[in-house]
Amino acid sequence: MPNVVIVGTQWGDEGKGKIVDILSDKSDIVVRFQGGPNAGHTVVVGEKQTILHQVPSGILHDNKKCVIGNGVVIDPETFVDEINEIKSQGYFTDDSALALSETAHLIMPYHKRIDIARENHKGKNKIGTTGRGIGPAYEDKVSRNGIRVIDIFNDAVFRRKLSENLKEKNFYLENYLNEKGFDGEEIFSKFVALREKIKKYVTNTSLYLYHALKDNRKILFEGAQGTLLDVDHGTYPFVTSSNTAAAQASLGSGLGPKNLDTILGIAKAYTTRVGSGPFPTELEDSTGKFLRDNGGEYGATTGRPRRCGWIDLAVVKHAARINSITHLCLTKMDVLSGLENIKVCTGYTHDGRLLPGFPADFEILEKCSSVYEEVAGWKEDISAATEYAQLPENAQKYIAYIEELTGIPVIMISVGTRRKQVITIKDPFSV
Ligand code: IMP
Repeated sequence: MPNVVIVGTQWGDEGKGKIVDILSDKSDIVVRFQGGPNAGHTVVVGEKQTILHQVPSGILHDNKKCVIGNGVVIDPETFVDEINEIKSQGYFTDDSALALSETAHLIMPYHKRIDIARENHKGKNKIGTTGRGIGPAYEDKVSRNGIRVIDIFNDAVFRRKLSENLKEKNFYLENYLNEKGFDGEEIFSKFVALREKIKKYVTNTSLYLYHALKDNRKILFEGAQGTLLDVDHGTYPFVTSSNTAAAQASLGSGLGPKNLDTILGIAKAYTTRVGSGPFPTELEDSTGKFLRDNGGEYGATTGRPRRCGWIDLAVVKHAARINSITHLCLTKMDVLSGLENIKVCTGYTHDGRLLPGFPADFEILEKCSSVYEEVAGWKEDISAATEYAQLPENAQKYIAYIEELTGIPVIMISVGTRRKQVITIKDPFSV
């Protein structure tokens, strides 16, 4: 029984939330393994739209277990708000449906303040973060100063860690970033109240998943952000602070790498990016505006307009290699309807030479030229298509071209925001 890992092949916002929602139905357990509330997974059920940030998208289904693994950074304040919001919409009626790793690291109030103040301080060199404290929380994890979920349940440990951290954080905030520092007692009491609300979810999720595998339960790993935002393999430094690639599904959940079977790469039929950094196929013209308006391309977490451009197969091929992608899912195909011609970037040239792969030097990436092939578009509305054969010939040719250039089969195609608006050529759990 294969487990499925969902990863973004671009700069995030590929529509993973919807695909995870659909595949949740076929799985027993949905696991988040990296990132935190920087993610915004939009799921539309009936007329209702829900945006999930920290809780796995499987929570909108009955009888599924949702796990937040050790690789996630969790903000307990917004986590509690998110749970209340999901419950108020009528979902998540059984608390045992959610498990939070005891070794996940916490996003503390000072992480959020540092994230925002540091971005302001950087001015035009800012990363364009979501301001949710992600980078500072992962920094503390790696520098071994982090506070884990389990730590806040031991008063003495929590007090000691908090006070050690605040000595440094307050100095940095007050003397370098010109911001207010924090009072340790205030944070302590706030977190003591919060820990009571999250206690019921906290457990050893690695052990839980190990036993679930032994019981042949099907696991869906829900990646957040995208490969080009991976801290090792993305457009560094304009990346997020976690590994977003498929291998992290193992480390961030505490299951060995041999448990990852199908790696389903999600690629939007065009490309978008939020935040700063190079974007070779970006369109700052009327076609870019067409994609933004037609695709509703505004950040689910921050509301920022997304930068839009043609599909970049140099990016998707890079992601395919990094993640061992076995199958592709194309999303938002319907957004391209109405375009006369569609361009596909097949690689880059720099100083007149074709680059062999995705360049690590972002100055080269900024200066390189995209090599395009142009294919014919289609006028038909494809949002009601439920089978491949119902797609116009040119849409089929576009998909075949992507398969040919990447060497990876496309097994799912999303043609709208709703659950039903999908063409499933093969079920990722039984490929
Ligand atoms: P951070 O993850 O908030 O530190 O932001 C770092 C970069 O990753 C910024 O360019 C963000 O816009 C981008 N980013 C973070 N999370 C997401 C996401 O879920 N979708 C798209 N971009 C994201």
